Amino acid sequence: MGFGLAKKLSDRGDRVLIGARSTERLQHAAKALGADVITRQVDIEQRDTLVSFFAGLQDLAGLFTPGASYQTASFREADEATAESPFRTKFWGQYWAVHAALPHLADDASIVLMSGAASVRPIGNPAYAACNAAIEGLTRALAMELRPKRVNCLSPGTIDSDLWRNRDAALRDAVFDQWGALTLTGQVGTTDQAVDAALFLLDNGNMTGSVLYNDGGYSMR
Ligand SMILES: NC(=O)c1ccc[n+]([C@@H]2O[C@H](COP(=O)([O-])OP(=O)(O)OC[C@H]3O[C@@H](n4cnc5c(N)ncnc54)[C@H](OP(=O)(O)O)[C@@H]3O)[C@@H](O)[C@H]2O)c1
Repeated sequence: MGFGLAKKLSDRGDRVLIGARSTERLQHAAKALGADVITRQVDIEQRDTLVSFFAGLQDLAGLFTPGASYQTASFREADEATAESPFRTKFWGQYWAVHAALPHLADDASIVLMSGAASVRPIGNPAYAACNAAIEGLTRALAMELRPKRVNCLSPGTIDSDLWRNRDAALRDAVFDQWGALTLTGQVGTTDQAVDAALFLLDNGNMTGSVLYNDGGYSMR
């Protein structure tokens, strides 16, 4: 989804800075995005890399923080490392990413955090559900403290992104099949749809402190 948003932004003429841990992935993205993109290696779990990620840049208009990798398991089955991994990478990663970005953001910058609709409708994986709910709370608190900067959160349901493409095909098919019955649309979301929702939050000057559920009605059922 991060790459998808970078593509939409660069296609309309915005300059983008993108990060990931893998230099190979970054080179591939840079090739697809064109000359105006800056790529820097970053691990959202490592605060020093977050600080160097933004070094030398000023008046950034926006920040989107979808980079995360974590494990999930049921409450009974998760060992300590697994149970804590969503908070370690997805909650604290985004918290410190905003902190590192702050001196480099324009006064009226727009920040879009990433949670997930398990925040309001858990489906196993309690630490992951709680982490997403915490990110949505963080969104509202940051919107208050950082104003006039805007802070919103995208909360997707299942999206057919690389996250699922890189997982075991049998598991992916089972989750996608089950998803049809759990939503109002009966459809797994596309990366393009999720990215459109992120772009709306990034651009719309009347949105702050909001959580946008791009989930086919999953959170309603
Ligand atoms: N797809 C879904 O169904 C879904 C549903 C709800 C919520 N979400 C949330 O959306 C976010 C992104 O999902 P996605 O589907 O876009 O995932 P994705 O296709 O797997 O992409 C994740 C991107 O983040 C980067 N990344 C992973 N760990 C990182 C780290 N520690 N530091 C910096 N970059 C890192 C990856 O590159 P490297 O590996 O090279 O670092 C990759 O480019 C996640 O927070 C996920 O929980 C996704």
